[in-house]
Amino acid sequence: MGLADDIKERLDIVDVVSSYVPSLRRAGRNFAAPCPFHNERTPSFYVFPDRQSWRCFGACATGGDLLSFVMRMEKLDFAEALRLLAQRAGVSLSQAKRDDPQRDILYRINDAACALFQETLRSQQGIAARAYLQGRGIDAEASRRFQLGLSPGQGLALTQHLMALGFTQEQVITAGVATRGEDLPSRDMFLSRLMIPIHDSQGNLAGFGGRSLDNTEPKYLNSPRTPAFDKGAILYLFHKAKTAIREQGEGVIVEGYMDAIAAHLHGYQNVVASMGTSLTQQQVALLKSTAKRFVMALDADAAGQQATFRSLRDSWHALGGRSDVTLRVLVLPFGKDPDELIRSSPEAWRKAIEEANPILDYLLSMVSQLWDLSTGQGKELAWAELKPVVFEQGNVFDQDSYLRKVADILGTSIERLQAEGGVPVPRRNIPSTPRAQDSAKGNIFPTHDPLEEHFLAMLLRWPELREPVQELDPNCLTAWEDRKILTDWLRRSTMEELTEMLEVELRPRAAYLLSLSIPPMDLHQREQAVMDCFHRLEERRLRNLKQDEALLLAHAAREEGQPRTLEELSAHAIDTNQRLKRLFHTRSEQRRPGR
Ligand code: UTP
Ligand code: MN
Repeated sequence: MGLADDIKERLDIVDVVSSYVPSLRRAGRNFAAPCPFHNERTPSFYVFPDRQSWRCFGACATGGDLLSFVMRMEKLDFAEALRLLAQRAGVSLSQAKRDDPQRDILYRINDAACALFQETLRSQQGIAARAYLQGRGIDAEASRRFQLGLSPGQGLALTQHLMALGFTQEQVITAGVATRGEDLPSRDMFLSRLMIPIHDSQGNLAGFGGRSLDNTEPKYLNSPRTPAFDKGAILYLFHKAKTAIREQGEGVIVEGYMDAIAAHLHGYQNVVASMGTSLTQQQVALLKSTAKRFVMALDADAAGQQATFRSLRDSWHALGGRSDVTLRVLVLPFGKDPDELIRSSPEAWRKAIEEANPILDYLLSMVSQLWDLSTGQGKELAWAELKPVVFEQGNVFDQDSYLRKVADILGTSIERLQAEGGVPVPRRNIPSTPRAQDSAKGNIFPTHDPLEEHFLAMLLRWPELREPVQELDPNCLTAWEDRKILTDWLRRSTMEELTEMLEVELRPRAAYLLSLSIPPMDLHQREQAVMDCFHRLEERRLRNLKQDEALLLAHAAREEGQPRTLEELSAHAIDTNQRLKRLFHTRSEQRRPGR
C-alpha cells in the first residue's frame, strides 16, 4: 500500500483539512471546527494531528484519515482521492516507495522465510507435499517458478531460523510469520502448510497464503495485515501478469491461487487472482491502470447466488469509473474451477474466455433466478438491485436500452422505472465509492459494513425481536441511513408500517437489507445471533470512542480554554470504560458453556 502511506507521510492532515475548512481552529493540541459534513453551530469536528485523523463527535459520529476526508469532501472514490492527493504531495503515481526501512525489513524477513519454505519442500520433510503438487500438475520446475514451499511442522522452526539470521522476535511477529501468543509463547504462523508467496504490484514479497495439506481449517491461511501486506490491496500474480495484461489489452480475474498458477503454467499470463473476495477499490485501481477490458471467471455454484450477483455488480461499479472499461463474465461448467478446466483443456479455457458475456447481460439473465418475479415484492427487490447498474450507464442511450430490458423483465414500463428511480443521474456525478450521501441519488449502498448490514437484515426480517433490543443505541451503526432505519424500526411493529414511515430515499436501502440472505434459525438462535451482532457493533463503537476520549482527555489535562471541560471528559471516559467492561461481561456470560 505504498502510495497511500507515502502521501500520508508527506501531507499533514491539518493543512489539508484547513484548506477545505477555513474555520478550523487550534484547540490545545488538536484542532476543532463546526463539522463540514453536517449543519451545526458548536464545533464537534476534531482533527488529531498526532494520529493524523479526524472525527465528528456530533451528528455524523464518523471519522477517518486524510484519504477518507478528501473522499467525502470532494465526493471522490479511493483512486481519485489518491490521485488528487498525490498531486498535492508531489508524489508521482508510479513512484513506489522502497526506502522505508521498516517495510524493507519485513520484505527481507519474507524473503528469508520463503527460502526456508522452498528448502523444506525439497527436503525429506517435503515428500508428501511434493506428491500433492505433482497430483495437481505442478512439478519441481513449476514450484520453483512460483517459489512454492512448505512450512516446517515444528512450532518454532521458522522463528528460530529468522532470529538466527539476526531478526528480532518483534520483527518476525510484525512480518506476520509468527503469532504473538497472549498467554502462550509465540509460535510460527504457518505449520506444515503448502506456502504460496504473494507479491505486491512492485514485486516485493509482501505475504503468504498457506494451504492446508491435511484438511485443517482454514483451507488457506493468509498472512495477517502488516505494513507490507494488505490482502485487499493486492492481486495474486499481478506483478507477473501486468505486462501481459498491458500487451493484450485484457486481464482475466480468477478466484484462487491455484487457478492463477494453472493459467500461467499453460501460457495464459494475463491472469490474476482476487484471492477469494470481491474486488476492492485498490484492486480495481491496479487493474484500471493496465487495461480496459476484463473478464471475471465465476464458479458455476457461486454464479447462482445473490451474494455473487452483488459482488459482481459492485466490482463492475468500481471498474466502470471510466465508461470505456468493459467487464465480461465467464461462468465455468458446473463443479469445475479454472484450475481444473485449464488443466483438462487449455483450449476450452481459451474459448470460454472468448465467449464470456458482458456483465450487464449476465446480471439481467440472473434476475429471474434470484428473485421471485411473480410477486410485486420480488420485482421490487430485483429492481432495487438493478437500479444502480442501470442508472450508471455511461450514456443515455445505453441507459435507455437497459431500462427497456429491465422493464421487459419486470413487466412494467420504462416511465414507471424512471419515476421509481428518480431522475437518472449523469454518469460523472456518480462516485464509484459508496457513501452515505449517495442514497438520495439512488445508490443503495451507503456502507460496505457487512456486520452492520447483517445486523439490520436480521432485525428487519424478525420484527418479533424488537423487545430485546429496545435499549439499543443507534449510534452503534455507522451509516446515517442505517441509524434512521433502525430508529424507525424500533418504533414500528410491522414491515408495512415501517415501509409507510420510511422516507422514499431510504426504501431501496431497506429493500436491499431485506434481500440479504440469512441462514434459517429457530427463535432462540435468532435472539442470540441478533444480540451477538449487537454486542460486536457496540464494542466497536465503544472502542473508537475510548480512543478519541483518551486523546481529548490527555490534551485537556495539559491545556486550557477547551470546548469541553476536563471533568466532563473524564466522566465520559469513565462511563465508556464501564460500558465496555459490562459488555465484555455480558458477552463472556453468553459464551459460557451450558447456556
Ligand atoms: P476456494 O475455496 O475456491 O479454493 O477459494 P481453491 O482456490 O479452489 O483452492 P484449491 O484448488 O482447493 O487449492 C478460492 C480462494 O479464496 C481464498 C484463496 O485465495 C483461494 O485460492 N481463500 C479460500 C482463502 O483465503 N482462505 C480460505 O480459507 C479459503
Ligand atoms: Mn481449486
